[in-house]
Amino acid sequence: MAERRYLHLNLVANDINLHQGAYGYERAHGIAERSTFERLLEYGRFGDQGLFTALFIGDIPGMQGSPAFDGGPAEPITALTAIAAHTRHVGLIATASTTFYDPYNLARLLASLDQASDGRAGYNAVTSVIDDFALNYSLAQHLDREARYERADEFLDVLRSLWENRELRRDPDGRLRFYAEPINHRGKRFQVTGPLNVAPSRQGRPLIAQAGGSGAGIRVAAKYAEMVFTNSSTRESAAEYRRTLDTALAEAGRAPGSVPAIPGLIPYLGRTAAEAQEKLAELDGYVDWAPIAPFALGQFGIEIPLGDIDAPFPTEALPVPADVEATIKSTFGNYVGLYNWIQQRPGVSVREVVAQAVGRGGATHRKFVGSYDDIVEDFAAWFADGNVGGFNLMFSAGAQSIGEFIDEVVPRLIDRGIYRATPDERPLRERF
Ligand SMILES: Cc1cc2nc3c(=O)[nH]c(=O)nc-3n(C[C@H](O)[C@H](O)[C@H](O)COP(=O)(O)O)c2cc1C
Repeated sequence: MAERRYLHLNLVANDINLHQGAYGYERAHGIAERSTFERLLEYGRFGDQGLFTALFIGDIPGMQGSPAFDGGPAEPITALTAIAAHTRHVGLIATASTTFYDPYNLARLLASLDQASDGRAGYNAVTSVIDDFALNYSLAQHLDREARYERADEFLDVLRSLWENRELRRDPDGRLRFYAEPINHRGKRFQVTGPLNVAPSRQGRPLIAQAGGSGAGIRVAAKYAEMVFTNSSTRESAAEYRRTLDTALAEAGRAPGSVPAIPGLIPYLGRTAAEAQEKLAELDGYVDWAPIAPFALGQFGIEIPLGDIDAPFPTEALPVPADVEATIKSTFGNYVGLYNWIQQRPGVSVREVVAQAVGRGGATHRKFVGSYDDIVEDFAAWFADGNVGGFNLMFSAGAQSIGEFIDEVVPRLIDRGIYRATPDERPLRERF
């Protein structure tokens, strides 16, 4: 009998997509301040409680302006290794850059996380887009997109070979021993003899995920990924992404549909849609919009002179996204999604665009404002389309909004029959 298919919900476990008013909101509601690391461990507890498939930690390998929003986030593999000891079921997916890491080092670190978590580790491969970060890695400048993905391709080949040329074998004397073979990789960028000196976990090796939606990104995903993190903000764009990925999978000799696409989502919820709107308005109220307005589109390298915060946004000044790959350096920020959102709202104010582009968790991911029942309907509709395997959830106001989701939405999803009612005991790779 075919196994029942459930929606995958991953919990993004760093605070990178919080609403900019989240801190003011927590203060106003008497929610105690926690250190960065306490918050990470709290995400771990929520991961198990909410029956999430995995925690997912994005990575920003450098400082984006100073001062930072708090003590500075811990590096993902270290954070997840600490969380592993405090959790039992939730998968643990760490992002790391193929541009800045060395494959042997990363293979060792992630294989160690896989041991620490007893087969719950995953790796989200990214090539990284912020030019200045290259200056932390002894590079004169950042590699361009094509060179980054060429390196990512060879990198993932080395990483996977190191992981796959290992086994635990029970010898005739009854003892379990670790054996590994050299890989003797001699490539354009990497020379790696191997073998890797960390034994495999019960899932053999960590899951490989990928994020980066340009043509080159999708081609690399089609060769190596077992899950992709996307930023589809409409059901139509999710269908289009699915078609593109399936074509690339077929070209790579893999079955179309075999790699689930998981778009990001930032929910704003309440008992009713009106209550959700009120909560969003309250969060918006803690942000001083005027000083951040001029930087709202800086993430896309776009500078538009903006006047009064409540004046209509100068929509005509936006570049047309006909050839985004040439004009916008990455699909990360989802410029096309933001452009379409603005076009659908004639007369939209500068304040609203700034809120959508940066204030409410960034332009990259879809935002959902509605009731608990509304979001269940929304998930069911996206899932029924068959183009997504689930969602990577980013919560607007941290712990308060995650707790609300677990208490109110998870039981409704279970009742609806589209979400697991019990923890998944399987190693992470078998879940996708
Ligand atoms: C949904 C999504 C999430 C991403 N997360 C990260 C991240 O956490 N850290 C990072 O360095 N890059 C991240 N990236 C950037 C990609 O690694 C990639 O460098 C960038 O998007 C440029 O390639 P592209 O044009 O294929 O998107 C992300 C991209 C997408 C689409």
